[in-house]
Amino acid sequence: MRIQGMKAVVFGGRTGLLGQALSARLKEEGADVLALSSEDVDVLDQAAVAGILDDFRPDAVFNAVAYTQVDGAEDEEEKAFALNATVPPLLAAQVSRFNALFIHFSTDFVFKGNANMPYLETDRPGAVSVYGISKAAGEQGLLDLDYEHTLIVRVAWLFGPGKMNFVQRMLELAADRDQLRVVADQTGSPSYTPDIAENTLRLVENDATGVYHLTNTGTATWHDLASAAVGMAGIECEVDPIPSSEWPTRAVRPAYSVLDTSRFTEKTGVTPRHWRDALREYLEKLG
Ligand SMILES: NC(=O)c1ccc[n+]([C@@H]2O[C@H](COP(=O)([O-])OP(=O)(O)OC[C@H]3O[C@@H](n4cnc5c(N)ncnc54)[C@H](OP(=O)(O)O)[C@@H]3O)[C@@H](O)[C@H]2O)c1
Repeated sequence: MRIQGMKAVVFGGRTGLLGQALSARLKEEGADVLALSSEDVDVLDQAAVAGILDDFRPDAVFNAVAYTQVDGAEDEEEKAFALNATVPPLLAAQVSRFNALFIHFSTDFVFKGNANMPYLETDRPGAVSVYGISKAAGEQGLLDLDYEHTLIVRVAWLFGPGKMNFVQRMLELAADRDQLRVVADQTGSPSYTPDIAENTLRLVENDATGVYHLTNTGTATWHDLASAAVGMAGIECEVDPIPSSEWPTRAVRPAYSVLDTSRFTEKTGVTPRHWRDALREYLEKLG
């Protein structure tokens, strides 16, 4: 599907971390974009969603809405399931009325995280948190609906402009303190939202449907990512590694949730750049 001239709705596209990058990239590539936040439409209100879609008549609908507070979901299970599990198939059913493409985002946290090899799209989900279980249920709802024009893109460890994220938080803390203690026993795939947006559009252009993993190249622990950010930004702050046991959180996180992106590369011919190169660009733009 061509991006130039495409009519694209981006739920979460006005205020979300990933949604903003998607809307920006779609506009850059010549799409006609309707970027929405919860103030424009509540995705839980299906009549309101139907009205928006009827008016706009999309060629593609991107769902970058989710309940994304991993710890909060442990206490707000119902809210997390409503947005992450119930909404995706309802949205896809609405999108099917236009025979349009439905692009949904999921997460590395659908996996248990006890592997030592990058996860493939065909590996079985086995989430260890309410957030991960609710996101896996959303994927399953879409697979059960079986709408043929559905693309599910699993992303991970996002940082980028437009909204507070792990990297920005670390930089702010480092500017205020002499020492930071950051978890060093969880390994994942840090990913820059403008790269995810650009590469999602490469999947769309190549008519990909089904499930794809998409991250930047390279793996890191949260400590690696924080150290790299603080170092590249030239901030004088010691970044010390700690085990998760010294940083207790409500939700259990996977110890290892690196995603294998070879299916993405086979489909598009593109190899995402290393997260360190993307991080450098992000920091340069932050100024
Ligand atoms: N962030 C990560 O590190 C990460 C990692 C792996 C996967 N993901 C996945 O990537 C996708 C995007 O995540 P993100 O971090 O970019 O999300 P985010 O920054 O938390 O943004 C969520 C978006 O959803 C909107 N929203 C929330 N409730 C809504 C409702 N009831 N009706 C309409 N809109 C609503 C929000 O609008 P308001 O601002 O108006 O509330 C916001 O635009 C999600 O599927 C997430 O699971 C994220």
